[in-house]
Amino acid sequence: MIPDNQDKALHPWQTSARYWDKYRALITEMFAPLTSSLVQEAQIRIGQKVLDIGGGSGEPSLTISRIVGPAGSVMYTDPVAGMLESAEAEAGRRGLMNIHFKQCSADDLPFADRTFDVAVGRLSAMFFVDPATAVREALRVILKDGCVAFAVWGPKEANPFFSSITDVIDQFLEVPPQDSDAPDTFRFAVPGTLAGILEEADAKNVLERQLNFQIEAAISFEQFWQVRTEMSETLRGKMARVTPAQLPTIKQAVADAARKYFLSGTMSFPAEALIVSGRKPA
Ligand SMILES: C[S@@+](CC[C@H](N)C(=O)[O-])C[C@H]1O[C@@H](n2cnc3c(N)ncnc32)[C@H](O)[C@@H]1O
Repeated sequence: MIPDNQDKALHPWQTSARYWDKYRALITEMFAPLTSSLVQEAQIRIGQKVLDIGGGSGEPSLTISRIVGPAGSVMYTDPVAGMLESAEAEAGRRGLMNIHFKQCSADDLPFADRTFDVAVGRLSAMFFVDPATAVREALRVILKDGCVAFAVWGPKEANPFFSSITDVIDQFLEVPPQDSDAPDTFRFAVPGTLAGILEEADAKNVLERQLNFQIEAAISFEQFWQVRTEMSETLRGKMARVTPAQLPTIKQAVADAARKYFLSGTMSFPAEALIVSGRKPA
């Protein structure tokens, strides 16, 4: 059962789910380097039991399912029904038999202590309502010495995939000041923030690695504009406040700002993420 305060925070994700489903292939392609880094960091291999926390439309669960093979398994979790339905349908289409699905929040995992070898979360931890409890929960359900690893975004300035649109729109709208600890894309961008939460939870060997990569896909600026303005709850909210008269000016300013990332029919944005991991103490 998801408590009311969480339900409110999760509502936008339910609206987002249809777009995460629509752009599943693109999301898989754009963020594949994050999945590879998580797999490498947590040393995920054949036969392991892996927990995915906040699996969205299916990654990294779907990729990890192939890596662990029939001798292993993946437990996909997400509190949002629409996300789970999207991921489960894709697993069915791919005939993956070793993925299981559970609708639950990161801070209340319905699993016994020491159930999994590894727990991972790709681009989800910054949205947890209560990350400290979530990290404790992740450590509780993995085996001693097991690894918990999260991929989160680095600073907005190093991620023009986001800032090339929001920086322009924010010049046209009044943006209220934000609580820096509220769920947000860049909540854990400051080095040490999420690592500190792992340390507080008594994780050992806490590591934080900066990952620089390119967000790449064969899409045009028009497609990028559509994907971003549909997929992101924050942008959907901001776009709803833009007047029809402002829209062409904003779109042109974004196109100018993003032009250098669209060459020869391909989008390629430099990106920065943090891979934050720790191990369960004895
Ligand atoms: C940016 S999406 C990332 C989805 C997927 N892991 C990926 O990388 O494509 C964030 C996900 O976190 C989930 N989420 C939000 N709050 C959560 C919570 N309290 N516990 C677990 N997942 C949560 C959302 O439902 C959403 O699916």
